[in-house]
Amino acid sequence: MISSTDKTIVNSWNEWDPLRHIIVGRADGGCIPPGEPALDAKVPEDSDMRGRWGPRPAEAVERANAQLDNLTAVLEARGVRVDRPTPIDFSHPVATPDWETASMMGCMPPRDVLLTLGSEILEATMSYRCRWFEYLCYRPLLERYFEEDPDMRHEAAPKPRLTDADYHADYLSDTISIAQRLDWTAARHFVTTEAEPLFDAADVLRFGRDLVVQHGFTTNLKGIDWLARHFPAHRVHMVNFPGDPYPIHIDATFTPLRPGLIINNPDRRLPDDQRKLFEDNDWEIVEAARPAHNRPPPLCYSSVWLSMNVLMVDPKTVIAEASEVHQLDQLDRLGFEVIPVPFRDAYAFGGALHCATTDVCREGTCEDYFPRQTHRI
Ligand code: NVA
Repeated sequence: MISSTDKTIVNSWNEWDPLRHIIVGRADGGCIPPGEPALDAKVPEDSDMRGRWGPRPAEAVERANAQLDNLTAVLEARGVRVDRPTPIDFSHPVATPDWETASMMGCMPPRDVLLTLGSEILEATMSYRCRWFEYLCYRPLLERYFEEDPDMRHEAAPKPRLTDADYHADYLSDTISIAQRLDWTAARHFVTTEAEPLFDAADVLRFGRDLVVQHGFTTNLKGIDWLARHFPAHRVHMVNFPGDPYPIHIDATFTPLRPGLIINNPDRRLPDDQRKLFEDNDWEIVEAARPAHNRPPPLCYSSVWLSMNVLMVDPKTVIAEASEVHQLDQLDRLGFEVIPVPFRDAYAFGGALHCATTDVCREGTCEDYFPRQTHRI
């Protein structure tokens, strides 16, 4: 186990290099937030979450925390240093001069809020009002990293206004059919407008010099442009996945496992015209195995495709959810050492193993995995 006196180094360029230091979220005080435009657009019409909000039951928090603590122990046993956020009281109303909402959400999924690239940790703008203040839970850690690592860059993207101008009114109806949603996704008409840059960090995948960013509900084109201007040494590529009626966060859709290999959700196939970058550089995109479950657990925002939301420990070792037997089997057949951990009790608090973590340090440097390219996608 790494002791707390180990020197902090912030350094992570991709999703798979050997992991040295990570943040694992907490379920404490997790709430179902009340309705708001971007959140309502994401909750499926038949979800048990429709119309419900308030603190989650104490026993659900306890079960989720037991699995988050177990993940922490598994990582520590492999020599990875693990830090945890500091929850605040999420049940209070919060407001800015532009809006107010009756509660926050929680601090289980750090992947949504923090983007680590090299020695920088960037706080995302976020796109839900209930998540606007979530960065506060990570500030104690970020302040510590800033003190301990003289090269660490702590950055925050411009906080968005999140007025009604940020959301398309036609998404605010309660009765949007799946067919309509799929048409809108294919046409890249999402709930968020282009009023100001918006992105959640979990829409970004890191491939060394290249960043692949999903355009969807939580990240708009202006947000992608902001990332491209903020990281001028990197090439930023926009992708979208027409089969997804609720496109938020790329990590249950497109999951790089090691250099040259990605699993792609078969219901949310990367369109042909966006494959060139990968094909020209000999990356293989294979269909992910089907989830083992027909439905997400109760009161969960995410789809059954959290099966794909795995955490790479190094390019040969992957942590995956223990009941996802088809995904475990596929990873095994792809040649990985697979570490199954139970995690379904944590899903409702904000996702699976990739969502619930964010990198602080992986070994390795910034590589060019896509040397053959002539233009941005
Ligand atoms: N859009 C995703 C979010 C998971 C991280 C889903 O499939 O629910």
